[in-house]
Amino acid sequence: MKVICAMAHLLHRLVIFTILMTMAATVTPITQQHFKEASTFYNSPACLSISEPYILCSHQALHVAMTVDKAYIRGSMAAILSVLQHSSCPHNIAFHFLISATANASLLRATISSSFPYLYFRLYPFDHSSVAPLISTSIRSALDCPLNYARIYLASLLPSCIRRVLYLDSDLILVDDIAELAAIQLGDNSVLAATEYCSANFVSYFTPTFWSNPCLSLTFANRKACYFNTGVMVI
Ligand SMILES: *[C@@H]1O[C@H](CO)[C@@H](O)[C@H](O)[C@H]1NC(C)=O
Repeated sequence: MKVICAMAHLLHRLVIFTILMTMAATVTPITQQHFKEASTFYNSPACLSISEPYILCSHQALHVAMTVDKAYIRGSMAAILSVLQHSSCPHNIAFHFLISATANASLLRATISSSFPYLYFRLYPFDHSSVAPLISTSIRSALDCPLNYARIYLASLLPSCIRRVLYLDSDLILVDDIAELAAIQLGDNSVLAATEYCSANFVSYFTPTFWSNPCLSLTFANRKACYFNTGVMVI
């Protein structure tokens, strides 16, 4: 199974701004944040009409998955708004939010609902006890949060009726219709589409402890190292 990288041209058109992890520095302890109610978005006449109770499981709906937590909720709210704002069929979008199993789900649900009263969404608690012991400290402390790894478990977290899902990080803003991205052809042998990077300097991606352990660092020996960014994935 391979990852395809045909997304690059689409990403150029969509111009997704990634506000990298600089946000980590600005996160302050928050009890509850308040957001304005977004204006209502309407489907254009050409949109399929999907019966409301089934949208979260409909093959015709566009499914978006994101993680939501208290620290990054500002980014998530902006991302949701940008998805709806540029979509010609915003009512055919179903959101699947991965939250920490220890998070206050009712608070997160209330926060999202008060800004987006007509949003179709469901929260999925992610029990990170199985992931937490596998995380080694990295160069970016924001990556140490187990919820970051919930995206790897999407297939088991989301109901099996969902055939395709777009995973989005909460630090991006869409500036064009997400349906274009969702329509990407994956072909027969690919499990997901993501942008690939082959000229990154991996030295700074790992800690000195990693590089000093040959058992780990030899992974890169005689190889052309590439990685794909998991911030935007079509799965
Ligand atoms: C969750 O948040 C709600 C609303 O702020 C609050 O009333 C409730 O006590 C919280 N629950 C927990 C378990 O913290």
